[in-house]
Amino acid sequence: MPFSHRHILSAHQFTAYDIEMVFDEAFRLQEAVRRQGVLATLPHSLMATLFYEPSTRTRLSFEAAMQRLGGRVVSTSHAKHYSSVTKGETLQDTIQSIQQYVDVIVLRHTDRGAAGEAAAVATVPIINAGDGDGEHPTQALLDMYTILQEQGRTENLTVAMIGDMKYGRTVHSLTQLLNLYANRIIFVAPPALQIPDWVTKDCNIPYEKTESMETAFAEADILYVTRLQKERFEKAADYQRYQGQYSITLETLQKLSPTATILHPLPRVDEISPEVDHDPRAAYFRQMKNGMFVRMALLHLVLG
Ligand code: NCD
Repeated sequence: MPFSHRHILSAHQFTAYDIEMVFDEAFRLQEAVRRQGVLATLPHSLMATLFYEPSTRTRLSFEAAMQRLGGRVVSTSHAKHYSSVTKGETLQDTIQSIQQYVDVIVLRHTDRGAAGEAAAVATVPIINAGDGDGEHPTQALLDMYTILQEQGRTENLTVAMIGDMKYGRTVHSLTQLLNLYANRIIFVAPPALQIPDWVTKDCNIPYEKTESMETAFAEADILYVTRLQKERFEKAADYQRYQGQYSITLETLQKLSPTATILHPLPRVDEISPEVDHDPRAAYFRQMKNGMFVRMALLHLVLG
């Protein structure tokens, strides 16, 4: 896929070759930032972040990425409350307005498929920064980049994903990327929160579903922990029923391989105890930092 001026909507759109291109670029930019701090790669470009849902890492890392490339940023972080949506404006009209001002729009929305709907009317690239319980393709890229950095490879890995497989959009996108290489996935969740068929229907790699964290721990090279997506539960009682079921502590980690990597897209609630942060296998803060370099690479490829 040539990246120039393309929308980034789903992890489905990437080939292994595309991923290699993003990673090479991310690595190069990571080195350049280490030397120079702020670069002059995209001095003539302006990016809008349009976020209808809360975000810390995704929005700020996109904005930091653009600024570190020497580009500029305009931002609406509470679009649901402070943009013209409150006056009844449609997403389509909002996109057709913002694109008059900027060269790329990074969109986070409450509804699955919203990024695709935005792209249908957009004349500038749309980057999906999370569409409801759908996908989060740029997170999947930074997750894979972190896997490569921590494990030295993106294949022949057993990846245990734990928590909310149903609503967790990062899991949905990461599954598609893992499927490009010879990997194996263990989805660990209570049956009601298991991975939906629409996510696994294109999976060519072996995968299994289990409720047992212990089985997964014994076999995992990568432990990908997620938070229950509280805001997407229809009934508060359902959330309460499952909350706290999976809790990663130094004690539960004893069964995990000493060479494994622990990832989490963050934010965490109570699923990883803070004492785990000092374990050398805990890579979630390094993962977060990688996000900025991967987003720099994407912006450069899309706008360059
Ligand atoms: C994730 C998201 O928004 O989907 N966060 C992120 O982008 N790093 C995960 C989550 O909110 O649980």
